[in-house]
Amino acid sequence: MCSIVGYVGDRDVAQILLDGLERMEYRGYDSAGIAGIQGDDFTIVKRLGRVKNLSDAIDPSIHFEGIGIGHTRWSTHGKVSVKNAHPHVSFGGLFTIVHNGVIENYESIKNFLSDSGYKFYSETDTEVLVNLIEYHFNKEKDSGNKFLRSVQKALLHVRGTYGIAVLCKRNPKEMVVARKSSPLLLGIGDNEMFVASDACAIVAYTKNVVYLNDGELAHIAHSDFSIITMRNEKIDAVKCQLDWEIEDVSRGAYEHFMLKEICEQPMALQNAMRGRFSDDLSTAKFGGLRLSPMELRQVDRILFCACGTAWHACLVAEYLMKKYARIPTEVEYASEFRYGNIPLEKNTLVFVISQSGETLDSFAAMQEAKRKGYRTLAITNAVGSTIARESDGGIYQHSGPEIGVASTKAFTAQVCVAAMLALLFGRLRDMGFDEGFAFVQALHELPAKVAQIVESREEIRLIAEKYAHCEDMLFLGRQSMFPVALEGALKLKEISYIHAEGYPAAEMKHGPIALVSEKCPCVFLATQNDILQKTMSNIQEVKARNARVVAVVSEGSDLSSGFVDDLIQIPRTHDALKPILATVPLQLFAYYIARARGCDIDKPRNLAKSVTVE
Ligand code: M6R
Repeated sequence: MCSIVGYVGDRDVAQILLDGLERMEYRGYDSAGIAGIQGDDFTIVKRLGRVKNLSDAIDPSIHFEGIGIGHTRWSTHGKVSVKNAHPHVSFGGLFTIVHNGVIENYESIKNFLSDSGYKFYSETDTEVLVNLIEYHFNKEKDSGNKFLRSVQKALLHVRGTYGIAVLCKRNPKEMVVARKSSPLLLGIGDNEMFVASDACAIVAYTKNVVYLNDGELAHIAHSDFSIITMRNEKIDAVKCQLDWEIEDVSRGAYEHFMLKEICEQPMALQNAMRGRFSDDLSTAKFGGLRLSPMELRQVDRILFCACGTAWHACLVAEYLMKKYARIPTEVEYASEFRYGNIPLEKNTLVFVISQSGETLDSFAAMQEAKRKGYRTLAITNAVGSTIARESDGGIYQHSGPEIGVASTKAFTAQVCVAAMLALLFGRLRDMGFDEGFAFVQALHELPAKVAQIVESREEIRLIAEKYAHCEDMLFLGRQSMFPVALEGALKLKEISYIHAEGYPAAEMKHGPIALVSEKCPCVFLATQNDILQKTMSNIQEVKARNARVVAVVSEGSDLSSGFVDDLIQIPRTHDALKPILATVPLQLFAYYIARARGCDIDKPRNLAKSVTVE
């Protein structure tokens, strides 16, 4: 969604801002803008559409003097227009601001300011905030750090969420930034400072970062900074090192980030498992859970909460927990959990799964579970993210940055972590050493098997291209293959705009079969040999209605190529890990269909990478 970048230092400010915005393009946006101080005034350039349009509009006479802020906007308040794009300037022209988040009480503040003579030019909540800052600045005495104080006072009146970066014409070498439920970090360089809502914007320049916490403001002047809370307490900055390389956020030789990330899955899985097995190789261990074996034994119920693809990972986790650990497990959409007042039994452990660690609905679900007094753990890919920091403990996926809007390597790593959790809980209960050992062996072999599928991607491309003209598709699977069917359908619709549905294979007869025809191919996940005959019956049912069938099967399956139109074989593996292997061909299938249709794969329409609004 919206992104923020800021810079204070001696380099070409506009260039650094544009570079940062370009690196955050994957997050989804509809307009972009930058602001800096030139002479004794702000220079602001905004454009609709891509950052490229903005950089094309920067003429050589623009020279920001050592400071600047930039933004990509994903509209919430007010339509997509240059007027509504950020940065916004206050009525008196003293301040300019970029803002991520939503000011919920902006209307009442706007009325108050209008009564005091302020005029507004945009429809945004952000313009209200910058004027509130100016209002306080004009009321404050000329002492101490008036700029910082005015921002702080304004924020005290604000309800909602924000990550902001503010410049003041009277203090042309300073920047004030603040956050509440919207990520913001400071990058510390040599005699220069960076600000960003996403580390990928600045990793090319520095790896030394400080993540701001909710309710904190930072004052940046030259290469110095200080952090205070809304209540004026001084905060000692906790400096961290980013463990990314610039290559991690670059496409390299790949045509799209999505393909790069699909191909990175063997490594992402290895990273998710590294150092997380017991010495006797019969179980998993996760120090980050901060729970002793005794406490883990006392867990009677597990709730998984998430959105989108991460919710599909939760559904696989539910299946694995029930089957291997025999623990009653439920899954909730984070957005539903928050308002559902769902009954939870005591000794319930709540897991929130989120790649970005910033999804607002997932964070809100986490807060709700914590409010009710439940131990709430995070499975996330983003170190230092809001969900990671606010949880009682958790597990990092270590998948590396995921830039493609369609989640791929993050999903398989989440399922891998879920399988390891099922192993851990299973071994604390009924699972014996031999079964645990075999599970760990299968996990060790998993990355090589994923690599095998990725290497055969040309075959999947040829199959996919045959279906690229379709407008409807069904994805069908039983048991743990049902969430895989949902994920396959989601991938396809997200990036190719083909209407696709995922269903439990047998449930298809109770309605969706009405859609089945020669125009609606069906993709069957038929990897489980114990229920293969049942799935084959379902295949017969759709074939009888002229549907073309693509089947994903395990090597050596009784379901052979003559039975369906197209067959995709995956290596044999432990049952628990089949969801991971079966997902990979579906990612490639969706990718090559979208590519054949000429879609903008890494930036699908209307979608944002991390959804920070409700
Ligand atoms: O960052 P999160 O895992 O919390 O994101 C959740 C969903 O927004 C995300 O998985 C979304 O569904 C993706 N576009 C799926 O490809």
